[in-house]
Amino acid sequence: MHIPAITGTGVFTPDAVITNDELVKAFNAYANRYNAENADEIAAGKLEAKPQSSAEFIVSASGIEQRYVLDKTGVLDPARMFPKLPGRTDDKPSYMAEMAVRAATDALDAANVRADEVDAIICAASNHERAYPAIAIEIQKLIGCDGFAFDMNVACSSATFGIQAAADMVRSGSIAKALVVSPEICSAHLEWRDRDCHFIFGDVCTAVLIERADDAKGSYFEIKSTRCATQFSNNIRNNNGYLRRTHDQMEDRRDMQFMQNGRKVFKEVLPLVSQHIADHMADEGVRAADLKRLWLHQANKSMNDFIGKKVLGRTPAPDEQPNILQDYANTSSAGSIIAFSKYSNDLEPGDAGLICSFGAGYSVGSVLLEKKR
Ligand code: COA
Repeated sequence: MHIPAITGTGVFTPDAVITNDELVKAFNAYANRYNAENADEIAAGKLEAKPQSSAEFIVSASGIEQRYVLDKTGVLDPARMFPKLPGRTDDKPSYMAEMAVRAATDALDAANVRADEVDAIICAASNHERAYPAIAIEIQKLIGCDGFAFDMNVACSSATFGIQAAADMVRSGSIAKALVVSPEICSAHLEWRDRDCHFIFGDVCTAVLIERADDAKGSYFEIKSTRCATQFSNNIRNNNGYLRRTHDQMEDRRDMQFMQNGRKVFKEVLPLVSQHIADHMADEGVRAADLKRLWLHQANKSMNDFIGKKVLGRTPAPDEQPNILQDYANTSSAGSIIAFSKYSNDLEPGDAGLICSFGAGYSVGSVLLEKKR
């Protein structure tokens, strides 16, 4: 048996930023167009007028101030409201693989590990650009390593579930080094024309390198233990899938993009996550007072404030539970890993921290870490 450790992380952030003001301006222009085009039906009560969005609402309801996206021109065009990401021919890298290589290279550099030393790659994300071959295998080819690679999807919990899978393989000795990459092109599964959720998501890619602690060349976090849990719910759902073409070829169906009942998610997920973390810590003998940092899933600021308070038994100081959602919005599985990557260097040897993701499924994944060097 070996001790698994996180020895490097990387974050690829797209260049384009959309502020709340830009987003709301485009949405309101789209809503005005829609209302003008459908004026007669709206007047006759056959259609509902689209209400206006507001930047004040977005900040107060979510804490989100801006988001990064691969393409902003398509999203902000009131006549389009969808990113321009033209399909690529088979001889070109897929978008997800391209982002993943950038993040993975940074994680490898941080750990001082060569790409050809990696034994396994898990592409853990909430959407995959195609059915097969796996995006992970394309990443394997692009970075240049042997071994094996596979895709997995547990929506917002993909990265933590991927870390558990990789850590277990390292622990058992079947592999020595694994990359868990989470390229999230959330802009392509978001319905930018839906006022209730148009502000929620952004694009990013994270990478985590997991190795045997004995092999770590620089500073590292020991993975003390991981815990994954799922419980079926329809409250976050996207019905897009391979049967779509057969049944709904020409339809513009709303349920083929991200859908959520945000209020219910709030109510049901908060107790689930708080209990999950409390049980995980209790079983590992970690007290709230021992925990130096919480890197939570980044969907909503009030949600994180609530969970932080529940776990620590007091209001966490901002540096104890860092949020990145004000800059990145919800980036699905990548959110807690961005927080970890950006806010972990200052921890001292012996300090304990916990990564926790949660979302569609429902799914919750937690990773207990201890800084070693
Ligand atoms: N601009 C202005 N007003 C808006 C708006 C917008 N963009 N979107 C909604 N509103 C209005 C609603 O119409 C509603 O008005 P009403 O009270 O007159 O009916 C009011 O604001 C409150 O809407 P509601 O949808 O209840 O907002 P909320 O406070 O629940 O916040 C979310 C919405 C999505 C931010 C919040 O529910 C959330 O974050 N939920 C959990 C999300 C999550 O973790 N999801 C996981 C995804 S992976």
